[in-house]
Amino acid sequence: MQYAILGIGQAGLRHFEGFNKIKKLKFIGFTEYNLKKAKIFEKQYKIKHYKNINELLKQKLDFVVISLPHDERSDPITLCVKKKINLLIEKPLALNISELKKILPYTNKRNLIHTISFVHRYREEVLQAYKLIRNNKIGKIKYITETMISEKNPKLPRWIDDKKKSGGGVLIYNAIHSIDKLCFLVNSDVKKVYSEYNNINSKLKVEDTISIIIIFKNKTIANLNAIFAPYKTNPKWETKIFGEKGSIDLNIRKNLEIKSRTLNKKYNYENYYKKNGPNYNFSIQAKSYINCLKKRKTPLVKIEDGIKSVKIVDAIYKSIKQKKVITL
Ligand SMILES: NC(=O)c1ccc[n+]([C@@H]2O[C@H](COP(=O)([O-])OP(=O)(O)OC[C@H]3O[C@@H](n4cnc5c(N)ncnc54)[C@H](O)[C@@H]3O)[C@@H](O)[C@H]2O)c1
Repeated sequence: MQYAILGIGQAGLRHFEGFNKIKKLKFIGFTEYNLKKAKIFEKQYKIKHYKNINELLKQKLDFVVISLPHDERSDPITLCVKKKINLLIEKPLALNISELKKILPYTNKRNLIHTISFVHRYREEVLQAYKLIRNNKIGKIKYITETMISEKNPKLPRWIDDKKKSGGGVLIYNAIHSIDKLCFLVNSDVKKVYSEYNNINSKLKVEDTISIIIIFKNKTIANLNAIFAPYKTNPKWETKIFGEKGSIDLNIRKNLEIKSRTLNKKYNYENYYKKNGPNYNFSIQAKSYINCLKKRKTPLVKIEDGIKSVKIVDAIYKSIKQKKVITL
């Protein structure tokens, strides 16, 4: 199989590391606007840098990884689909609803296998929580609290603060992963959302904090709080899931605990991450995607999951703007 990457920034490099571990997979080339970055990468890995996507797409490619800023997806998606190339697209699938409408006629073409990089689903601890829930260990889920706190590192790309390029702040860059994870664990569609925010950095034009109440069709309620602090803070990504019979505490990269009247078990993941590195989920995602392409199977994260999450994010931004509950 042969592949290419569009954009070798933070995410592009993580995808490269993941796919690079797979034997019999050929990395044909990449596009990258930052020529300095491109030259260093080209020299280090002896991979051809293409100055424009049209030249790159003349090569025979089985799939392309799109890891570009949020406003740069729609043209590459349409170009690749026209050439019948499968896609691994970084989240979000689209900048907003109007871009989503533009790409849907292309992404919906049935004979291609696309996935969205909701890469946190490939974490061992998330998959373990999913298994425990599906095996009915905590009963029907009633309530979830999700907290996502991180420092907004000054080294992060500047475009994430430019609403035209990013589409928004902490919600679309970080917490969209939480939204996907919640949908995955709850296994129901979102019915209603309500949200407010109160920026820590009031100079920012996008949100750096957000509180969201999500009500699912199966009546589960989730309360999601995301904070992207402009200073050092203790990072945390924690999900507390309350079912009819018991609860699960999920701490990303740390541990998972299940408790009920009859169960009390703790799974530790710190050694797993020490051994495999903090972004090992990119490798698992890469392996899983290659397997789906080879066997023509539907990926764990489907294009529909990407579509759903863009619609949920749009409803949340609408709720903030209109100061009311939005029904999807
Ligand atoms: N799944 C994750 O955990 C994760 C983590 C970080 C970022 N992301 C996502 O990855 C995507 C990229 O984000 P990032 O943080 O890597 O940003 P980044 O700025 O680090 O990387 C984007 C790269 O694309 C290049 N670029 C921009 N426009 C281009 C174009 N038209 N053609 C070629 N190159 C171009 C830029 O020079 C840059 O190097 C975003 O969708 C972001 O949300 C996902």
